[in-house]
Amino acid sequence: MCGIFGVVGASQNAAQLVLAGLKKLEYRGYDSWGITVKQNNKLVRERHVGKIGSAQTKLPASNIGLGHTRWATHGGVTVGNAHPHLDCTETLCLVHNGIVENFLELKQKLSGHCFQSETDTEVALHLFEECGLLKGFKQIVGMNAFILLDSAKNQLLTVKNGSPLIIGLGKNKNYISSDVWALLDHTNQIIFLEDNQIAQITGKQVKLFSVKSNKAIKPKVVTLDWKAEQSRLGKFHHYMEKEIFDQPKIITNLASQDFGAIKKLIKPNRKTYFLGCGTAYYAALFAEYYFRLNGFEAEAIMASEYQKILKLVKPDQLLIVLSQSGETIDIINSVKELTKKKIPIVALTNVLGSSLYRLADYKILLGAGQEVAVASTKAFTAKLAIILNLLGLDSGLIKAAAALSLDRKKIRTLSQTIKDCDHIFVIGRGISYPIALEAALKIKEVSYIHAEAYAAGELKHGPIALIDKGTPAIVLAPNDETLTDMISSAYEIKARGGLIIGISPQDNPVFDIHLQVPDLKQATAIPMTVIAQLLAYDLAIARGLNPDKPRNLAKSVTVK
Ligand code: BG6
Repeated sequence: MCGIFGVVGASQNAAQLVLAGLKKLEYRGYDSWGITVKQNNKLVRERHVGKIGSAQTKLPASNIGLGHTRWATHGGVTVGNAHPHLDCTETLCLVHNGIVENFLELKQKLSGHCFQSETDTEVALHLFEECGLLKGFKQIVGMNAFILLDSAKNQLLTVKNGSPLIIGLGKNKNYISSDVWALLDHTNQIIFLEDNQIAQITGKQVKLFSVKSNKAIKPKVVTLDWKAEQSRLGKFHHYMEKEIFDQPKIITNLASQDFGAIKKLIKPNRKTYFLGCGTAYYAALFAEYYFRLNGFEAEAIMASEYQKILKLVKPDQLLIVLSQSGETIDIINSVKELTKKKIPIVALTNVLGSSLYRLADYKILLGAGQEVAVASTKAFTAKLAIILNLLGLDSGLIKAAAALSLDRKKIRTLSQTIKDCDHIFVIGRGISYPIALEAALKIKEVSYIHAEAYAAGELKHGPIALIDKGTPAIVLAPNDETLTDMISSAYEIKARGGLIIGISPQDNPVFDIHLQVPDLKQATAIPMTVIAQLLAYDLAIARGLNPDKPRNLAKSVTVK
């Protein structure tokens, strides 16, 4: 899930525009980056291993260029494997997001070509050199998006199947990007490229064609009302911190929104499946618990495991799909298969026009604004607020949950206390169990501490063996039917020397450290989550890590 960006028609500052675009896309992958521009009929390139950070480009003035920020799939993290790649004639240049699944087979057919890297991308480039983009793309298997710079014709060509690609319409210049956010500084006039569409782009014109029929297609231009400044860091040190403090406004908005059309689809005996990946899967699991605890049939499914319901889904059931980006490949694949079963699909997503948004029958936008930090925060609590609203929880409780009256100093002190631990346990019961899973994920994602979540009742059936003197255990203890049992579980851990960190509306003698949350029925899940987000953030800072770009991760996984 790399980030790709291109511009044509620039007034001699193509390299700077591409670099700025890559910086906005860097949350999609940050193993290496590179840019190519055309100057005096020659392609001039720079490539680097590592993050872009505050790098400046040394490339010459040009009106056309493209670039790439990489999340490595094929070939190690080296300059040789960094994109953009050049063909044998050095007149074609390619960047790519996706995986060419049949690249070895294709490579055998390209024996006369000289390969400089281990990447699947370079194989695709030599194929396009051999038989042109259209013919070549038809031979490629997998989910891919490509931008090709043809220096002879001074134009950019782009094509996709599965991976996201958006064209931005400027004044006498046009842009191509993996996502909308990198375009907003320049334009809000955009075209969402559909699968198997190919575009020919110059500074003056964008022509669309169908890969299958090669017939011309009239582009659908969408005007977005998003502002680039919405995703400025402002007074915050990191996007994760900014996005944690974006939550009150977002949750307050969602608390009183009327999802009437969707609510009508939900009935107690009509089974609802919730689908998601990563943090979105934990929101799906929260939904399953919340629906079931209110007498509604429901089941949460990891999108990468959708096969287990393929033979069970029926048109009279409902599928609610949760995805911040709306582009996660496991989500898109599973929705494409499940939609064949004629089950109505509701999308809960943060990106208008994303693949999921376009695939769904009903759409709910999270309204969380751009989420830049790789670890998802505000998109998660936005999903919780919508789920609570869908079954009519008192909006006053949800609004109260947005208040975020948290003891920041105490959380920061705690992070200093436990920052050198190798293991942290997080336990919860019932509707707090998915919150425990999300809390552990946040700590793992940004601090690299091995945090594990357990349904508290399961601890004594094995995992409690891992508790040692001083092992931190975060205990989620809201004022509900699980409270007494949670306190008992806390005593069992304490008896083995564990350090008990209680997140609860009221203190308790078993807690070594108490972090207070308001008592808001099922909405208590929101402030409990925010405490865990802040603790994870402070742990990352305490360990000298960058919480926005954790190692090995990327914001939106668009490869299998
Ligand atoms: C991962 C992100 O790549 O994808 C997680 O790092 C996210 O934060 C997960 O929860 C699912 O993404 P999405 O966009 O489908 O919600």
